[in-house]
Amino acid sequence: MDAEVAALGWALRALPDLPQQALCWNARPQLTSPAGLGLRCQQDFLPWALALRAEGHAVLETMSDWDGRSGAMPTAAQALILLLPARQREAARAEAARCLQALAPGGRLLAACANDQGARAFEADLRQLCPALDVQSKHKCRLLQARAESVDAEACATWASLDDARPIDTGGLIERALLGAPGLFAVDRIDIGSALLIEHLPPTLAGAVADLGSGLGVLSAAALERCPGITSLDLFEASARAVALSRHNLGEARVPVRVHWQDVCVGIEGGFDTVLCNPPFHAGARADTAIGQAFLRSAAACLKPGGEAWLVANAHLPYETVLGEHFSAIETVARGQGFKLFRTRR
Ligand SMILES: C[S@@+](CC[C@H](N)C(=O)[O-])C[C@H]1O[C@@H](n2cnc3c(N)ncnc32)[C@H](O)[C@@H]1O
Repeated sequence: MDAEVAALGWALRALPDLPQQALCWNARPQLTSPAGLGLRCQQDFLPWALALRAEGHAVLETMSDWDGRSGAMPTAAQALILLLPARQREAARAEAARCLQALAPGGRLLAACANDQGARAFEADLRQLCPALDVQSKHKCRLLQARAESVDAEACATWASLDDARPIDTGGLIERALLGAPGLFAVDRIDIGSALLIEHLPPTLAGAVADLGSGLGVLSAAALERCPGITSLDLFEASARAVALSRHNLGEARVPVRVHWQDVCVGIEGGFDTVLCNPPFHAGARADTAIGQAFLRSAAACLKPGGEAWLVANAHLPYETVLGEHFSAIETVARGQGFKLFRTRR
């Protein structure tokens, strides 16, 4: 169990006058609630949303809660909201503001933030929204409790939209205007690794293309503009908000585009001519190369025989062995700025 989840569970058990139900924003698996307290969980990241459901919690239907342009809103009049804030500061500020806005009179917000994940900054931010905070420490985390009666409504109204969608700087690599948002990968620009892949995309790339861990859809958008032989695009992404934004970003494309809210690590349906991928190597705040390696296996499995994968990764990540096990030909097309780009054939 991660430290924030453990700390939140600990604080929850000590909380007096618990209501029958609490809303947990950015809930993560293994959060235990005291007997008699039901949790309604919001979680954008599909593997965690499914794990929470398997643990017996009610999970909000995240996809339908997002409008694709602004952050999700917790429904109002909540007696108790639990918050595990986003890592990105503007996103965490906006979430805190919206959660405080959603408290019922007399309601409470309880947030947990690990010391090595910006607890000090998050406490300072929360104080701007609610100056009277109750602060505790446990499991190397800060536990912050705010009460509805101390909330600065004006400050919350200002910060509630801090994670709104905004144009990303495509650096001239993509003509189409694209939206990003705080809290998502490469908030307002194209990632250096993704740019390396885009710069090397051959115009001859053709047929059915899959984009694994598609984020805002930048690889797909670039491929669509540079490769006239593409006949369809399937994007696979676990973050509901990224899915919503990429649907917007790839709207009115010249070929069929399908965006799937899906966990790539468990495998995807096959039959693609080409895979494009800048694999993740984090689960939340924790670095985990196993995720990237699972992506490479899924990439190989979803290709037609003879199909190609274009894969970009940080130079230090240990992907070569897995690539050697699942692909017949592996070429390092480029190296630079801390990244390596592979072209592999199934
Ligand atoms: C390194 S980013 C690349 C995003 C995008 N392709 C780009 O080039 O900007 C990896 C993406 O994988 C997504 N992701 C992480 N774990 C995933 C999983 N298990 N299944 C599907 N997508 C996942 C992340 O949300 C993130 O958008």
